[in-house]
Amino acid sequence: MGNKRIAVLTSGGDAPGMNAALRAVTRKAIYHGWEVVGVIRGYQGLIDGDFREMQANSVSGIIGRGGTILKSARCEQFKTADGFSQALWNIKRCEIDVVVVIGGDGSMAGARKLSEAGTPTIVIPATIDNDMPGTEYALGFDTALNSIVEAVNKIRDTAYSHDRLAIIEVMGRQSGQLALCAGISCGAEYILIPEFPADIDDICRGLERRNIKGKTFSIIIVAEGVGRGHDIAAQVAARIPVSTSVTVLGYIQRGGSPTAKDNIFGGLMGAVAVDGIMAGNCDCLIAMRQGKVMPVKYNEAIKTRSEINHAMYELASVLAT
Ligand code: ADP
Ligand code: F6P
Repeated sequence: MGNKRIAVLTSGGDAPGMNAALRAVTRKAIYHGWEVVGVIRGYQGLIDGDFREMQANSVSGIIGRGGTILKSARCEQFKTADGFSQALWNIKRCEIDVVVVIGGDGSMAGARKLSEAGTPTIVIPATIDNDMPGTEYALGFDTALNSIVEAVNKIRDTAYSHDRLAIIEVMGRQSGQLALCAGISCGAEYILIPEFPADIDDICRGLERRNIKGKTFSIIIVAEGVGRGHDIAAQVAARIPVSTSVTVLGYIQRGGSPTAKDNIFGGLMGAVAVDGIMAGNCDCLIAMRQGKVMPVKYNEAIKTRSEINHAMYELASVLAT
């Protein structure tokens, strides 16, 4: 395989593990004698031509860091015809052969458009929401989940001491994956996710039954896709006399040093991306399927939607009784 020039960018909401993926792409590509160009601020950097030549030591010391050293952006301009053609022009001008995009489903939509326009791309899934089609796992989810669990364990201590109903709002956009897995990991009494709407009256009856049994504190995890934690608290307070506390975990979920899982799969996905380029297998999502990391063509990947495991959701409520 002749010399290649690869551009790599991180896009959309940052996710722990992005740096590990960037490091693997950079070092493995350089190992094969290729050139690597880092694009600053995702698609915005493609439009602005904000490119940095990468060396093996450009990615030194980044494996323990959350976020992305390339920086990220939400870039509306890339969705416009002018912005898109400016990006294509910069790709051509810098003689880029392949663009590796590390990001979520929006970023994958952008990568597919580049591929359709004649620039081969590869996507490494990275979003704490873990809501991408075609892959069981996206980088960042495990770190975010562990951050939530750590926070909820602390909140539980004080909810117990004060006989409170603790309502904790977590991220996830329209997906309940983070909330469900966090709720199961923390033993939350109720988990509210957009995929399975819950009835507030039922929840209030359940809380009253718990109270009668002497269980005077409870935890509710609310996915942001359901609504605001404060609104849920107001709805509960309008029905039953209970002292509530509301915590919106916010960006604490997105930052922080990646877990071993996110760094291991970041490295593996980065390496599989480079192998794919070497084999001429572009226009793929580097997916996890049945625990294995493999390239899956975009057209195939988008057929499998990210879905909540119903059995797990049911189990969560059984375990909370
Ligand atoms: P994520 O990749 O984490 O889902 P976004 O949805 O914000 O985050 O998408 C990241 C970026 O991808 C957007 O800011 C935009 O530049 C690009 N993008 C998203 N959707 C599209 C689309 N339909 N067409 C082209 N580019 C898109
Ligand atoms: O997609 C990741 C995510 O953290 C979502 O969970 C959340 O809704 C969104 O990004 C927040 O985006 P922003 O950083 O643009 O506020």
